Amino acid sequence: MKFNFSESGFSENQLLKETEKIGAKELVKKEEMPFIELPKPNELRKIEEAAKLLREESEKLVVVGMGGSINGTIALHKALRWNSRELLFIDNIDPELVENVLQESKNASFAFISKSGRTLETVSVMNLVFQKLREHNTPIHKKCLFIGDRGNPFEEVAKETGAPFLPIPKEVGGRFSVFTAVSLLPGAFAGYDLESLLEGARRAVNSPEGALLLAAFKYLSYREGKKIAVMMPYSSYLSGFIRWYEQLWSESLGKEGKGQTPLGAVGTSSQHSLLQLFLDGPEDKLYQLVRVKRFRKDETVKEGLVLSYLKGKKISQVFNAEFEGTFRALAKKGKPVVVIELEELKEEEMGELLMSYMIATIAMGKLMGVNPYGQEAVELGKRITKEVLKGGRDGEDLQRGGTFTDK
Ligand code: PA5
Repeated sequence: MKFNFSESGFSENQLLKETEKIGAKELVKKEEMPFIELPKPNELRKIEEAAKLLREESEKLVVVGMGGSINGTIALHKALRWNSRELLFIDNIDPELVENVLQESKNASFAFISKSGRTLETVSVMNLVFQKLREHNTPIHKKCLFIGDRGNPFEEVAKETGAPFLPIPKEVGGRFSVFTAVSLLPGAFAGYDLESLLEGARRAVNSPEGALLLAAFKYLSYREGKKIAVMMPYSSYLSGFIRWYEQLWSESLGKEGKGQTPLGAVGTSSQHSLLQLFLDGPEDKLYQLVRVKRFRKDETVKEGLVLSYLKGKKISQVFNAEFEGTFRALAKKGKPVVVIELEELKEEEMGELLMSYMIATIAMGKLMGVNPYGQEAVELGKRITKEVLKGGRDGEDLQRGGTFTDK
């Protein structure tokens, strides 16, 4: 994986100086970034053994979780397995989605993932699945596995039902948990090369320069009024990554009136929807283009009935030319752009990409003077929702200064 800052609007020296201000090199240690501590071989083995047991039971695994407990898994699965249905995801409490996935998952196993073990959506689906399993006289422990913080209600449920439980290290926050059992268990089930994934992550930790310069680029641009950070991979299979990134950047840095709004776009599709705005709209955006060098599938087109210059070209050549077109047009218009180049959508590259962005997030937090951990603001909505469901106080009453009884 490579970063190219040539059109960022800043010299590498300027970016480097900015990172030095926050002592960025010292930042990449586990006290500041607990997520850089990757699973030890024995922990990885436990995860793989648990996945193997589930595999013996079922061909499909339904992953149930919200936000940081599922977005990383979706990002990896889309990139590494594109449309494969061996993992199914319930990442919303939309009743139609829940029913559709459950219908597609006859005989599937379930991984319920929640750090807190109290997330409304995840617990609701879990209760429904338990009900359905009981209706079919299927023992819960045969079909379900739980992942969460030690001491949370999921550990209790696992104990009570005799189902397996895998812990998430307490100090690793939800949106930073992609290299824990949260995504490694589903990854092991789907047969990813976990060693390579972790190797890529390790590479980002051992050589974090690119990630730190990325943070400096985004911060300096932010100071110049670029309040929107566009993420535009030239790959349909990085759409899951966009969503993961959007959560990471928003929840970590959107605090105390500060924040940089992430905006997802996909090349080339978004050239036909958003690019006009990017090129000729307000000067409030920076651009992160991701390109993939080698494609797993490609074809040469021999026909050239319309647009004869396409004759003999590979599909990837058209794709790459369009990337060049967008990159150069943005650069020509003086827009700040960084290009991130991935060799291929493989485990090692994805590991490096995700870890680099997590490191960049913490560095950006330091530069902005924002604590990237926690997300206090979203707690209010969660508490109001619980009160509504419990038939107690409604939102308005709470806003008038009512108190909560639920923990
Ligand atoms: O990043 C975070 O901490 C959040 O997005 C959580 O991952 C999300 O709210 C789900 O929480 P939990 O894992 O406790 O179910």
